[in-house]
Amino acid sequence: MTPQIDPRAGAAVKAADRAHVFHSWSAQDLIDPLAVAGAEGSYFWDYDGNRYLDFTSGLVFTNIGYQHPKVVAAIQEQAATLTTFAPAFAVEARSEAARLIAERTPGDLDKIFFTNGGADAVEHAVRMARIHTGRPKVLSAYRSYHGGTQQAVNITGDPRRWASDGAAAGVVHFWAPFLYRSRFYAETEQQECERALEHLETTIAFEGPGTIAAVVLETIPGTAGIMVPPRGYLAGVRDLCDKYGIVFVLDEVMAGFGRTGEWFAADLFEVTPDLMTFAKGVNSGYVPLGGVAVSGRIAETFGKRPYPGGLTYSGHPLACAAAVATIDVMAQEGVVANAAVVGAQVIEPGLRELAERHPSVGEVRGVGMFWALELVKNRESREPLVPYNAAGEANAPMAAFAAAAKAHGLWPFVNMNRTHVVPPCTITETEAKEGLAALDAALSVADEHTE
Ligand SMILES: Cc1ncc(COP(=O)(O)O)c(C=O)c1O
Repeated sequence: MTPQIDPRAGAAVKAADRAHVFHSWSAQDLIDPLAVAGAEGSYFWDYDGNRYLDFTSGLVFTNIGYQHPKVVAAIQEQAATLTTFAPAFAVEARSEAARLIAERTPGDLDKIFFTNGGADAVEHAVRMARIHTGRPKVLSAYRSYHGGTQQAVNITGDPRRWASDGAAAGVVHFWAPFLYRSRFYAETEQQECERALEHLETTIAFEGPGTIAAVVLETIPGTAGIMVPPRGYLAGVRDLCDKYGIVFVLDEVMAGFGRTGEWFAADLFEVTPDLMTFAKGVNSGYVPLGGVAVSGRIAETFGKRPYPGGLTYSGHPLACAAAVATIDVMAQEGVVANAAVVGAQVIEPGLRELAERHPSVGEVRGVGMFWALELVKNRESREPLVPYNAAGEANAPMAAFAAAAKAHGLWPFVNMNRTHVVPPCTITETEAKEGLAALDAALSVADEHTE
């Protein structure tokens, strides 16, 4: 589709937004949202004729790109057939979405509780774990994001939690492995793994194993920095959960549905949690949908006893029809394999080559279509390019980097001192190379802020 240039229409969209839309996570007067006119595949465009290659997949959700015609058609067809129906009934789109998801989730995660998105999936997973164990506490990682609702944001580790943390949520944070900024003075992945597991077991012992309902982890922490855990870590957490009767929850809201080059990141580590949350990629975010995949043991807890939770739109037919079509498209078009192949053959070598030439790149890490560049002032000291949670002038180097990327036609994902490379899993080799070239130019701007 060719972008239509219509600055007046863009100005009207922007004016109404500024007058009436209250945006998330933002100081309302300090933001300047781009008015978007359209999107297709890996690109979107504004009303002034500027077109951007989207290295963010929205908020890491358009795993099959924008406006996939088969998914758009499935939504239209479902709207014409049965747009909505209450959750207590068996509805074809819902049944089929649950079947297709359960067929792909690891182990015996075969029952699907549908939610409207990721945060409420985490809320419900934790509620299930608390009722299943009869215990109150949740352990989660400092470097994590699990959603914006009250419980999910308290499980979150990043600074977005602080404003909502009254210390009454029953959540205890611990350090998960991250060798580049090790909390354990580790020098190898194996040391980091062993020491992180030892730290978790000590945390469990000192909190009291009998008080802990769940350990909640992102399989690969996403927003907090795409930190692929060392081999053996998640299997070690699984063992600790089994040892102490704790429910193991893996949050695959961002890492799931092809992002890592597998259907689920858990497949990379051959680990099966007791509960697994998903959202985003399940239907590429075309209609809001999330959920919890529930193991046999936990499903049994609610076999004869009602599960005390629900949502008006649980398993909304329009969202479920989008999920069915998305999963079909992913299977038929080899989208998961594309993420693995373009990731390994184009993105990874391209990023490593950029790191060799740009002193601002401290580390490249990731897998599949899920990559982070850690930008630093100094490679030796690893001092971040901007301080933790920087805003305003202190964040100027990252703002300059992002502006340079946009000037070169690339919409970058920027979080603190990192840029994440998370394009649609359908990205072509040519598009990936175009994005890498724009990143190259933007990193030259970041380099100006190194010592
Ligand atoms: C790992 C993870 N969990 C949960 C969420 C929350 O999902 P939602 O924004 O759909 O509520 C996110 C969102 O980015 C996420 O990345």
